[in-house]
Amino acid sequence: APYEIEYHNSVGSTNQRARELATEGAENVVVVADEQTGGRGRLEREWASPSGGIWLSLLLRPTLPTTHAPLVTMAAAVATAEAVGSAGVEPTIKWPNDVLVDGKKVSGILTEMEGEADSISWLVVGIGINANVDADALPEDRATSLQALCGEVERRAVVQTLLESMADLLDDRDKILPEWRARSGTLGRRVSVDTPDGPVVGEAVDIESPGALLVDTENGRRRVTVGDCEHLRP
Ligand code: BTN
Repeated sequence: APYEIEYHNSVGSTNQRARELATEGAENVVVVADEQTGGRGRLEREWASPSGGIWLSLLLRPTLPTTHAPLVTMAAAVATAEAVGSAGVEPTIKWPNDVLVDGKKVSGILTEMEGEADSISWLVVGIGINANVDADALPEDRATSLQALCGEVERRAVVQTLLESMADLLDDRDKILPEWRARSGTLGRRVSVDTPDGPVVGEAVDIESPGALLVDTENGRRRVTVGDCEHLRP
């Protein structure tokens, strides 16, 4: 893959380190760490990042309007699902970008960026995969690890698959949403999305560029752009 790799045994947060590199003008760099001491998740949460996981951040400068940044995150979810699948499990993507196996989360993605409305200056896609970590060490309920699912994995190979897939998708962006749909565990399900405007409950019917979820509710169709999605029993 066309990325330069910066490896750390231990770092506060690979996203933070990638942001530093962004201010220095770098691009197409991947920061990888064995352990993070201050891993961060979506919605201001902490992200447990013990030694043995795959904690990485891609620093990119895509030529896209900032409104299209979610598309890059969707691509990262597809690439992560592919990489996790290469380890021998069957992942699905929960909107917007969690990768689940058997309904449990093995990976999460946190994207940060800077730019003007019409162009992204830099974008950092942080991807955490619970690889060779003890699932009991993960605080989040309904989290699991590759080690728990299928035993120890070869992290280098997983990372390589991920980066190759990511580069492919960013080269041909028309593939991103179809590939996301094909791996989605959310579409066709009843969901409850906790949004800043309150809960949206109904059937998830599709996603729309650059990444909105369309939900058919009792009161009609809603287009959701941010929130935490829960899959409900049918
Ligand atoms: C989430 O599901 O809440 C997103 C989790 C993102 C975690 C990754 S690990 C690598 C990168 N560095 C961080 O501090 N966070 C992301």
